[in-house]
Amino acid sequence: MTWWRDAVVYQIYPRSFRDSDGDGVGDLEGIRRELDYLVWLGIDTLWLSPIYPSPMKDFGYDVANYVDVDRLFGSLEQFDSLIRDAHAKGLRILLDWVPNHSSSEHPWFLESRSSRTNSRRDWYVWRDAREDGSMPNNWVRAWGEGSTWTWDGASGQYYLHCFLDSQPDLNWANVDLRLAMHDTLRFWLDRGVDGFRMDVVHLLGKDLEVDDPDDLKVLSHVPLNDVPVTHEYLRGIRAVLDEYDNERVSVGEVYLMDPNRVATYYGRGDELHLSFNFASLYTAWSADAWRDLIAATEAAMNPADAWPTWVMSNHDNVRVATRLEDDDRRVRAAMTLLLTLRGTPFLYAGEELGLRDATIPPDCVVDPGGRDGCRSPLPWDLDEPHGWPATPWLPFVEDASRFSVQAQRGERDSMLHFTKTLLDLRRRDDALRRGDTEDLMASDGVLRFIRNHEGRRVMVVVNFSDVHAEVAVKGRLLLSSAGGARAGRLAPGEAQVIEL
Ligand code: NOJ
Repeated sequence: MTWWRDAVVYQIYPRSFRDSDGDGVGDLEGIRRELDYLVWLGIDTLWLSPIYPSPMKDFGYDVANYVDVDRLFGSLEQFDSLIRDAHAKGLRILLDWVPNHSSSEHPWFLESRSSRTNSRRDWYVWRDAREDGSMPNNWVRAWGEGSTWTWDGASGQYYLHCFLDSQPDLNWANVDLRLAMHDTLRFWLDRGVDGFRMDVVHLLGKDLEVDDPDDLKVLSHVPLNDVPVTHEYLRGIRAVLDEYDNERVSVGEVYLMDPNRVATYYGRGDELHLSFNFASLYTAWSADAWRDLIAATEAAMNPADAWPTWVMSNHDNVRVATRLEDDDRRVRAAMTLLLTLRGTPFLYAGEELGLRDATIPPDCVVDPGGRDGCRSPLPWDLDEPHGWPATPWLPFVEDASRFSVQAQRGERDSMLHFTKTLLDLRRRDDALRRGDTEDLMASDGVLRFIRNHEGRRVMVVVNFSDVHAEVAVKGRLLLSSAGGARAGRLAPGEAQVIEL
């Protein structure tokens, strides 16, 4: 079994995790100091959102240098210490790699825009205006307003950007660009990273010849999605990872909602090792909806090379606890699903505390995509300022004391202890980590499935309804999300894990 199928990945948004130097922004040294907390919790792999030098227009997803650390977060030496200490404690580290676009302040783009004859002109996507001077097509950039094209007066062409105009798209059709990007992977692989989360990889291939689509509503850059040549680029990226030992892993952000399309990004075991499957973020909290999602995912990703992933929260979306309207029973049931479904789970820092989105007053809004609420800082200590040496860059969630690590570590019945118990159970149980999914069904608001590994069978039951439910089952109750005592008898909102 490859390690990344057994792993539980914990996403750290470095700005919001732990501040060691008192500038109000989390940093690498802050992460290093909390490694023991993460080991205690029971996760085994960290993914760090971008730490590279950046003007921070998109908070690090606008990279100005792929092979260094932003001073805000620390230094390369501190990164080396972090990775050394993490490995010594049995934790792996994934970096976030942003191959679709760089910052407009990246030296490559400064060169590219300097003249039409510059040797790096073709490292980005430039197009002439149409005859009437208008943009090459009608594509709309992410976050709703504005075109994907920005005019560069000095060189007399438009450049493409799926996101902000300060995030020009790299041109993966150019072989030199591809090789340069491969070298940025090697830089970090040589330093010992265990792999990468790869930003919007479904956008790498570009088909600029498509006609102006009429409907740009779903995802603004939708016509750019999923162009076949992308798979060739991914095979090139995979080959770089395969140059290294110990299975360095790729987790692609493939922002397509159809599990069948997501599954194609695994190739024949020669593209991504793992891909996000974001449909879970948009699935209603109902037994039928979850049965359908799980069935579709299983059908798309079984038994081929594709191993599923599951995610309930991340730095781009409303946190699961807020989506579930602060209903603690549901929040625990969601964590039970996340950690018992077949596939590699991704927890977003704070999810183990049941953290909600913060309310961001208008004068504190900083993100162009309106995602500040889910990026609010982690409360460590019970008392203000919750373990942050200076006022953090975003406000805390309301009632931060209740969600703090300190409060929840001291409370046996807390969300934190519940998450830890689930993680311990999962680590010890081959059926929960590796088992097939069998007998998936939903009826009367109750979802259930069995995980079966070589005859060891464990049933997971989730009562999505607001009434008590009974499931006829003989087995030993391994865990209840609501203090239940009898296998198969579920309170409203309760989840159970039962050994058959
Ligand atoms: C997806 C990232 O998760 C998001 O935070 C970012 O804004 C866009 N890609 C652009 O890099």
